[in-house]
Amino acid sequence: MRKFTLVWDLPTRLFHWCLVFAVFYSWLSIEVLENMQHHFYSGYVVLTLLLFRLVWGFVGSHHSRFKSFIFSPSVLLSYSRNITAKSAKRYLGHNPLGGVSVIIMIGVLLAQAMLGLFSSDDYFFGPLSGLISAESIARISELHSLNSNAVLAIIGLHVLAIIYYKLIKSEPLTSAMLTGNKEIHESDTMPSSKIASRLLSLVVIILCVTLVYYLATAFLYMVPVSTESYY
Ligand code: HEM
Ligand code: HEM
Repeated sequence: MRKFTLVWDLPTRLFHWCLVFAVFYSWLSIEVLENMQHHFYSGYVVLTLLLFRLVWGFVGSHHSRFKSFIFSPSVLLSYSRNITAKSAKRYLGHNPLGGVSVIIMIGVLLAQAMLGLFSSDDYFFGPLSGLISAESIARISELHSLNSNAVLAIIGLHVLAIIYYKLIKSEPLTSAMLTGNKEIHESDTMPSSKIASRLLSLVVIILCVTLVYYLATAFLYMVPVSTESYY
């Protein structure tokens, strides 16, 4: 009989699919709708979700914790060498390469959202741009634009990797990210699968919303008053 186990807890799954939507809307709002106010709002949602994930990486369920998917360079190297082999070790959570890509993805997106807080198109001003000089705003806005290419590239690679695992290795990773469950194989080493409290995730998300709300509003008086600015 096939046996399944919960790998991705509900907060991690909600984090993932809300992040997909918020990042997509951040891109859509600026590149297609040209609505900077919506861009700011979706950027704040991205930032809140990422801060939540950083904390959840320490207090979440086993497979959501960073320590469960950050491997030593030697494990990463040997996994990468054998990735195409049928005998390649299977991981219930993120595999070593997947773990690295998750860290890079979170880092690149966090940088994007943080840079956005200090950016401006000379008409709209990020909520922290009043804290730095006009030259720094220009440089940071340039970096925000440049880094958006890295965001697109890493998401492209991420989706290609998911397709590779589905088509070549017959691993239904997407349905696991939807339902949370993965089938247990005989070779799997079962970790203690204590599920973190959902109440705790609610407390963490409320704290993250409060912090981002503070960042988005507390320094607005420092933004030049002669220019129209939104938060
Ligand atoms: C991960 C989330 C974000 C993504 C993917 C993103 C993406 C982008 C992209 C693609 C552009 C257009 C760049 C160009 O065409 O040159 C842009 C511009 C801009 N974004 Fe974001 N952004 C994000 C978060 C934020 C946040 C949180 C804020 C501020 C609260 C923000 C403020 C701005 C501003 C002011 C510009 C105009 C910069 C300029 O014209 O040089 N962004 N963003
Ligand atoms: C804006 C686009 C996307 C972003 C920013 C994104 C980001 C992420 C992040 C940060 C993780 C790590 C999850 C965690 O441990 O918290 C992840 C995992 C995952 N994502 Fe995405 N994702 C995107 C699009 C997609 C799409 C379109 C799919 C499916 C078609 C997908 C399927 C998955 C799956 C299956 C995993 C788990 C991988 C594994 O089993 O190791 N993602 N994604």
